[in-house]
This record gives sequence, C-alpha cells and structure tokens, in this order.
Amino acid sequence: MKKVDVLLGLQWGDEGKGKIVDVVTPKYDIIARFQGGPNAGHTLIFDGKKFVLHTIPSGIFRDETINIIGNGVVIDPIIIRAEIEKLEALGIDVVSKLLISKKAHLILPTHKILDKYSEEQKGIKKIGSTLKGIGPTYMDKTGRNGLRMGDSLADTFKEKYDNLVTKHQAILGDYDYQVMLAEFEPQWFEAMEYLSKFTLIDSEHYINEALLSGKTILAEGAQGTMLDIDFGTYPFVTSSNTVTAGTCTGLGVAPNRIGEVIGIFKAYCTRVGSGPFPSELDNEVGENIRTLGHEYGATTGRNRRCGWIDLPALKYAIMINGATQLSMMKADVLDTFEEIEVCTHYEINGEKFDYFPYDINSLDVIPVYKKMKGWNTDLTTLTKLEDAPKEFLDYIVYLEQELQTPITIVSVGPDRAQTIIRN
Ligand code: GDP
Ligand code: IMO
Ligand code: MG
Repeated sequence: MKKVDVLLGLQWGDEGKGKIVDVVTPKYDIIARFQGGPNAGHTLIFDGKKFVLHTIPSGIFRDETINIIGNGVVIDPIIIRAEIEKLEALGIDVVSKLLISKKAHLILPTHKILDKYSEEQKGIKKIGSTLKGIGPTYMDKTGRNGLRMGDSLADTFKEKYDNLVTKHQAILGDYDYQVMLAEFEPQWFEAMEYLSKFTLIDSEHYINEALLSGKTILAEGAQGTMLDIDFGTYPFVTSSNTVTAGTCTGLGVAPNRIGEVIGIFKAYCTRVGSGPFPSELDNEVGENIRTLGHEYGATTGRNRRCGWIDLPALKYAIMINGATQLSMMKADVLDTFEEIEVCTHYEINGEKFDYFPYDINSLDVIPVYKKMKGWNTDLTTLTKLEDAPKEFLDYIVYLEQELQTPITIVSVGPDRAQTIIRN
C-alpha cells in the first residue's frame, strides 16, 4: 500500500511551501491540505505569472491532479470563492479538480470579528494574528460548537448558523461589530450558495481508498513548525497542529501510512507577527534580507521580521516532524553577502542552550553565531550543484551535517524553474 508524503514548513511559515508543492506535484495524483486556513499565503510563480493561494492546495495548476481540502482545514467561504473565481478566470476547471471534506469547519463572519476583538483586548501582547478568524474557529471546533461544510447540506443549516452567531454575540457584548457583520453576512451566504456546486467528501475514506488503489498523495502543510499550537512558541502560534502529526488528524491518515516527510526551510529565517525570534536581525542586515528576499506577507502584506538561520530551532522541527529530507529555499537572497551567520546555540544568563527553553518569552536569549564565508555569486541561473561556488556547497554540507538530514531540493529563485533536485 502506498503512503502519504508530507511537505511542511520547519520555521515560522512562508518557507516556500507553495512553490515546492507546485514543483513536485507531477509526481503525485493527489495534493491535500490538512490544517490551517486563509491565514496561509502560498506563492507560485511560473511562465512569468504569480499566484497566491490561501485555502486551495498548490497542486491546482497541474492538469491531472486532484486537490483535497481535508477535515483539519478551516474554510472562509468568501475567501475561497474569490480564490476559485480567480482560478476559473484563468481557465482552470476547479470544480472537477477540488474536493472538500464535509468535516472541514467553517469560518463565520463573527469568527473574524472575534479574532479582531481578541487581539484588541490583548493590546501590546497581541499575537499578530492575520485576523482571518482562525483562532476563534478552531476554538469552536474543540469547544464542540462549530459549523462544518457538511452541515450546509441539511435544512437546519441556517438555524445552526444563527445559534452560533448568538453565542458569539454574547461574547462580543457591546463591542462595535454591527457594520462588519452587515457587510460580511450577505456575502458569506452567497458564497455558501456558490460552493454548493463542489463535491463534498469524507476525505478520510477518499484518501485511504486512493492509497489502496495505488495513488500517490502529498499532504501540503500551512504555517510552520514553530507556529504549531503544541510545539511552537506558545502563545505566539496559530491554532492548529502544523506538524506531521497534523496530517494524521487533518486527513484521516494513520501514522504508519506516512511516507517521506519533506521539511522546508529558508537559508535564513523569517517570522511575521509577534513572539520570540532569537536570531532576528533588527538592523540593516535584516532590512537588507527583507528587501532582497521581498519578505512581505503574502496574506497581510506586513513586513516579515528577518534573521539568520537558527539551527536549534531547525533541529527541533526536524525531530518533531520526523523529516526524512529537506528543501532549502531562497539561498539566492544571500548572493551578495560577504559573510553569512548561522545560529548554533543560545546563551541565557551565561548558560549554553541548544533548544528553546519553556519560558523563552520572558528570557533574554543571546544567539551565538558561527560565521561562514559568503559565495558572492549569482545563484539564480544555477541548474546543477556541480556548478555551484565552493562556499555555497560548504554551506549545504555544513547544514546537512548539523541537521543530520539530506537536503534534496535547493531553490535558487521564486520561479518553478529555479529549482535543483538532488539525487
Ligand atoms: P509559503 O507560505 O511557504 O508558500 O511561502 P510564501 O509564498 O508565503 O513566501 C515565499 C516567498 O518566497 C514567495 O514570494 C515566493 O515566490 C518566494 N520564493 C520561493 N522560493 C524562492 C527562492 O528560492 N528564491 C527567492 N528569491 N524567492 C523564493
Ligand atoms: P503560510 O502557510 C507566516 C502567523 C501570524 C501570527 C500567528 C497567528 O503562508 O506559511 P493566525 O492568523 O493563525 O491566528 O496567526 O501565526 N501566521 C503565519 N505566518 N505564514 C503563515 O502561513 C502564517 N499563518 C499564520 O502572523 O503571528
Ligand atoms: Mg506564506
């Protein structure tokens, strides 16, 4: 029986998951998202065009591939409708290529309002949420109050919706939300109507039957390991399990049906939103990386915080995910750097740490760096590593030794074509 391969982020998101899923999709019959929602922004660039996907799996541009939105995903009907309409305008037959789990939870307009309300209540301690309603929707899921895609098939849908909104209104009290609700609610119901042309499935059955019949499946993660609800830098995280285990619960795949786990990381590191980031460069170097790497959010447009690669965090992510191979992204962004630094461990109160301590949020963490010579070469036209400068190969070999995992994909530019697959 075939297994499900998994591709997910090892840092704080935006590692380049969309690009690599698109690159490897021809190897797979099915691409499936297992968690997250429209907080994600996955960018694909090919034939000189750029696309950003939020809820739809990044296999949607390839003709033969089926794309599944699993039960672990949360869906905003308004946002997914806009995504679908953009794809349809490009001539893509989304209806025949996209299947949605009946068990996926719905993001209501009031979930978005609650997200905004929650962040305003937190003030300077805010998470820096994308304000897409992710946290409140997963709260209703685990609180057993949620509304699911499959509920839209029943006559009681509107009643269930109203009951949930009444609960939300009780929380919101006299918070000023009426204008937002009046704006989104009609669009939300129109979008639900629009989505009725899509096939709703029991994704766990669909996926397991597909495996039995010899189909190949890739699970596409959203966010990154350090944003995982359990293993990330809590509370500055998202509200789902972004790690390999999330594939099991978010698609209905048994742990022994997981195959290769491809962990993606940037040759440096970024984070958007609040929370600890020991190797952050709050200086000219960091600004340089931001400008050269176009590090602005694909969903919110916010500046991404930039810094050097963080080995303790990466080792942790590889351990939690059981990553079997790695994909290194955006090395080209460092093409002009004389020197590149790698955070090898941290110092806290004079003590050496090679992991994130539990109370990292309240500690003064000093990153300790190893300096490496930059390659000072334009990598964007590189097609095979044999032609790469020695310093770049040294960087790859050093990371592989430290991380004890092979780097099988090296990305040297945003385009689909700027990808080197190693044997
Ligand atoms: P995702 O959320 O993990 O899919 O990543 P995002 O799409 O949010 O952010 C990655 C950004 O880096 C996008 O703008 C990509 O087009 C871009 N990108 C991906 N790979 C590379 C690369 O190797 N080099 C450069 N320069 N840009 C890349
Ligand atoms: P992709 O899939 C980067 C961050 C937000 C915030 C925290 C919680 O494109 O890598 P949420 O809206 O989930 O309540 O926000 O998580 N965040 C992301 N950062 N990439 C993402 O997705 C993200 N999705 C959420 O910035 O700090
Ligand atoms: Mg992104």
